[in-house]
Amino acid sequence: MAGIVLEHVMKTYGSLYAVNDVSFTVNDGEFVALVGPSGCGKTTTLNLIAGLLPMSGGDISIGDRVVNDLDPKDRDIAMVFQNYALYPQKSVYKNLAFPLQMRKLPKAEIDRKVQDAAKLLDITHLLERKPRELSGGQQQRVALGRALVRDPAVFLMDEPLSNLDAKLRVQMRSEIKRFHHNLNATVVYVTHDQLEAVTMADKMAVMNGGLLQQYDSPANVFAHPVNTFVASFVGSPAMSLIPLEVVSKGTEASLRSPEEGWELPLSAFNARKANASSNGKVVLGARHSTLKLHKAAAPGAVPGKVYTVEPTGDVTFAQVFISGAVVNISLDPSVLIAPDEKVWVEFDQDRMHLFDGASTMALQAA
Ligand SMILES: Nc1ncnc2c1ncn2[C@@H]1O[C@H](COP(=O)(O)OP(=O)(O)O)[C@@H](O)[C@H]1O
Ligand SMILES: [Mg+2]
Repeated sequence: MAGIVLEHVMKTYGSLYAVNDVSFTVNDGEFVALVGPSGCGKTTTLNLIAGLLPMSGGDISIGDRVVNDLDPKDRDIAMVFQNYALYPQKSVYKNLAFPLQMRKLPKAEIDRKVQDAAKLLDITHLLERKPRELSGGQQQRVALGRALVRDPAVFLMDEPLSNLDAKLRVQMRSEIKRFHHNLNATVVYVTHDQLEAVTMADKMAVMNGGLLQQYDSPANVFAHPVNTFVASFVGSPAMSLIPLEVVSKGTEASLRSPEEGWELPLSAFNARKANASSNGKVVLGARHSTLKLHKAAAPGAVPGKVYTVEPTGDVTFAQVFISGAVVNISLDPSVLIAPDEKVWVEFDQDRMHLFDGASTMALQAA
């Protein structure tokens, strides 16, 4: 296995910056998810690593080799796509064996590699079947197997689960995670689904508009999003974001609703952050699980109006309008509230996020 280094990687199409100055390092054996909304540059980044597209600038290394000018076949990678692209007329065995036959490996070695991969992926009993006789999940496992037999330095996967139904996707998610764990493989995995990234990856590279927004462990990205884009992209339901004004009183500060006039006093630490705002405005961010709903005015709580209530069984999600923003709150199912009800929402000062009103970047305490 090998690590991957991207340095100032660029890909332009005319005036469009599909990948704009992206740098990150995938350590040997790491599972890295490239995640972001459709069109943000994930597939382009993966294809640049694979060598399927020429770069407009920058450097890519795999292992200790700069691969900028190497053909895909010389980069020691294997790709797994959303469309499994299995040979329909060949058996599973022959689908797995074919890339090895092309490389003219001895027959006994091919058989050993195919049997090993089939065992690891639990498809030994399917080896004589044709792809059309397999379920979607089984076909995806064969596609993984075909990458696996080649014993590459790096696995590159582009939305491999997006053709599967929701239940199978969750199942294959843990299978691919197990695959990575068993092999200690270096994997770069593209997905638009933040939950896949959070649940599977050692590190996630969050992209938007061709730019790398944040590169860190899912736990750190979740706990310390660098800007409002990452804050609202990672986590479900999304982090709620409320634009507010800063009212500074010396070292103290509170947040004021421009629409409704109420003020929320801040802790000393949050006041230092709010006072660092570049334009006297902040975006207050809060995750659903950090908010407390009250039926009457309470200290540290601000007024809101219930918009919708969604019971899901274990937990009920409420959407509440606060100062013109929609705020998600999770509630115990025993809490009974109704649309249009007036409520008060209490923020946890230790778990709230403050972003600059102009740059949208997370504020640091001054
Ligand atoms: N061959 C191409 N010619 C022009 N624009 C392209 C081409 N391929 C991709 N793009 C553009 O580059 C951007 C990134 O695309 P892509 O990497 O496929 O996004 P993602 O995989 O994140 O959905 C998009 O705006 C897309 O329209
Ligand atoms: Mg894509």
